[in-house]
Amino acid sequence: MTTGFPALEALIPRLESIPTLDAAALDAEEIAILGRKSGTLTGALKAVATLPVDERKPYGAAVNALKTRFEEAFAARRAALEEERKAGALAAVDLTMPGRDRWVGAEHPVTRVVDEIVEIFRAIGFAVAVGPEIETEWYNFLALNFPPEHPAMDMHDTLYVDAPPASRERAGRLLMRTHTSPVQIRTMLGSPPPYRVVIPGIVYRSDAFDASHSPVFSQIEGLAVDEGISFVDLKATLIHFAHRFFSPDTKTRFRPSFFPFTEPSAEMDVECQLCHGGGCPACKGTGWMEILGCGMVHPAVLENCKVDAERYTGWAFGMGPHRITMLRYRLPDIRLLLEGDMRFLAQLGRQGG
Ligand code: PHE
Repeated sequence: MTTGFPALEALIPRLESIPTLDAAALDAEEIAILGRKSGTLTGALKAVATLPVDERKPYGAAVNALKTRFEEAFAARRAALEEERKAGALAAVDLTMPGRDRWVGAEHPVTRVVDEIVEIFRAIGFAVAVGPEIETEWYNFLALNFPPEHPAMDMHDTLYVDAPPASRERAGRLLMRTHTSPVQIRTMLGSPPPYRVVIPGIVYRSDAFDASHSPVFSQIEGLAVDEGISFVDLKATLIHFAHRFFSPDTKTRFRPSFFPFTEPSAEMDVECQLCHGGGCPACKGTGWMEILGCGMVHPAVLENCKVDAERYTGWAFGMGPHRITMLRYRLPDIRLLLEGDMRFLAQLGRQGG
């Protein structure tokens, strides 16, 4: 194509190279050619007015024709680049690639077990109570009928907090609670009887951290106090629990035991969940596994809480969800439940909560 004007002719190679420009070069070239202030063709159009009259028309027409061709070339290249971009984005997606797993949170197995246990008791009329993890000696021991010189109060057995209690009443030293039983006391001091509560919580002991011990673990306390409650209610309720939690035919047994705050006291065993009574290393050949301590609330405890022990009786239990989780999932080491190793937890977590 020719324009008949050498100055315009010189622009033809630039017109022809437009289809090779990338997006940035295209923008720059468009400004260089058509820019309002200093575009080459813009300048050429302005120059028309300075030409002799008879030259104005052909030159103006030639400039305008060339301008149109540039405009079309820029628009075409822009459209082509957009097409390329879309095609490139599609090509970058490999539709045969397996999807990426999303990171979905899950409940910790102990949380799940605690929830299940609490739910079994809620279904038969128990409310949920909680209490502080830093306690006074009075709530943790004395109100629960531990004699003042009881060895459980030794510095070796519990973790003491190096601060004075907020008030002297019901005090003694401050400590990390060693069981959830002080919340029995708080519940009974908080309102008049009857009481039916379960109390989940974390407790602390100055224990080693090994396969079967941890200085931090969970407990669930149970407390039922009313008129006419007997050991039969205790047994029936805990057997109901074992049947619900483990399986309807799970065998249970109660062995005499001792706790200062219950009389009589017992420990409850369930048939070993691994060997179903035959005897195996997990149950040390006995066929049984201990799951909780329990007993009839000691009258002295009721009196410490201003509950009339002539009129009211009750029972209590304390179980350890970490241990129960180990039984259910046949775990050899409690540390698996405390170290937060995702490779382990991901195998037991209930996806999606
Ligand atoms: N508090 C006791 C413990 O930690 C368990 C228990 C609770 C026993 C309630 C009897 C009644 O070992």
